[in-house]
Amino acid sequence: MSEYVFFNGEYIESDKAVIPVRTHAFLYGTSVFEGIRAYYNKEEKQMYAFRVKEHYQRLLASAKVMWMNSPYTLDEYVDITKELLKKNNYKTDAYIRPTLYKSSIKVGPTLTDNEDSFLIFTTPFGNYFDAQNGLKLCVSSWRRTSDNAIPPRAKVSGAYANSALIKTDAHEMGFDDAVVLSESGQVTEGSAMNIFLVINGVLTTTSITDDILIGVTRNTVIELARELGIPVCERSIDRTELYNAQEVFCCGTGAQIVPVESIDHRIIGDGKIGEITKKIKSLYFDVVRGKTDKFKKWCLPVYD
Ligand SMILES: Cc1ncc(COP(=O)(O)O)c(C=O)c1O
Repeated sequence: MSEYVFFNGEYIESDKAVIPVRTHAFLYGTSVFEGIRAYYNKEEKQMYAFRVKEHYQRLLASAKVMWMNSPYTLDEYVDITKELLKKNNYKTDAYIRPTLYKSSIKVGPTLTDNEDSFLIFTTPFGNYFDAQNGLKLCVSSWRRTSDNAIPPRAKVSGAYANSALIKTDAHEMGFDDAVVLSESGQVTEGSAMNIFLVINGVLTTTSITDDILIGVTRNTVIELARELGIPVCERSIDRTELYNAQEVFCCGTGAQIVPVESIDHRIIGDGKIGEITKKIKSLYFDVVRGKTDKFKKWCLPVYD
């Protein structure tokens, strides 16, 4: 039996969820989406979906940029997600992909006078990267789209042509992924993940006004660092600061917390996972599986 998806207001089997070829979102990339993870806790036999509300808050913010009228409220999105996960009844970690899209059958890119529809699919999901011990990155020759072109702050599917070029070219050159610079030459993020550097003991990440997607995981890392008493700084970062950082790691719903071993063939620190990265990573994996009391507020239990 195929998995259930939420499509046109119903929970149906995924092979029955079909979109017409002339759908606006397919023609022009006019959809906004989220990637959410749910973690299975074997001891509790419980599935925890992580920071679901925060993801839908961002979906609604992306929708506003793209002239979309949301068909559901924030609470309804959370309930639908929980119900769908329950129906799919995973006993393993999973990935949830909600998409709000322009669904009119229409030629021409205009966003107004254009219907908005919503769907979610889910799938079992493991690690996004094989290299959990350390990524080999390059600085991409592509630039991140700017806030005044295709705003990275909104998670728009069409914008992922930029990520696809960045990631594919990095792969073809033998790297795991790439760090992307903004049009003005500042560090932004990876192809689909935010970046943190340890500079003189301070956990440093790019400013939210430097053309990044403001990651839910990025915020989680900042909160966890505060909990661990690690100083945090959000500011613009130059390319060469990457090479001289004591530690670098990337983070995102897909990537989770993944250390960086080298950038442009320069070994980061001593090439091993740094102490701060280790501490954050270890706490993160406890938090997402609902194993800490303090941060259980971020974990939505799926099974009753
Ligand atoms: C471009 C980009 N930046 C950052 C992130 C990390 O965001 P989050 O932690 O909310 O998954 C993602 C992942 O979705 C992304 O696609």
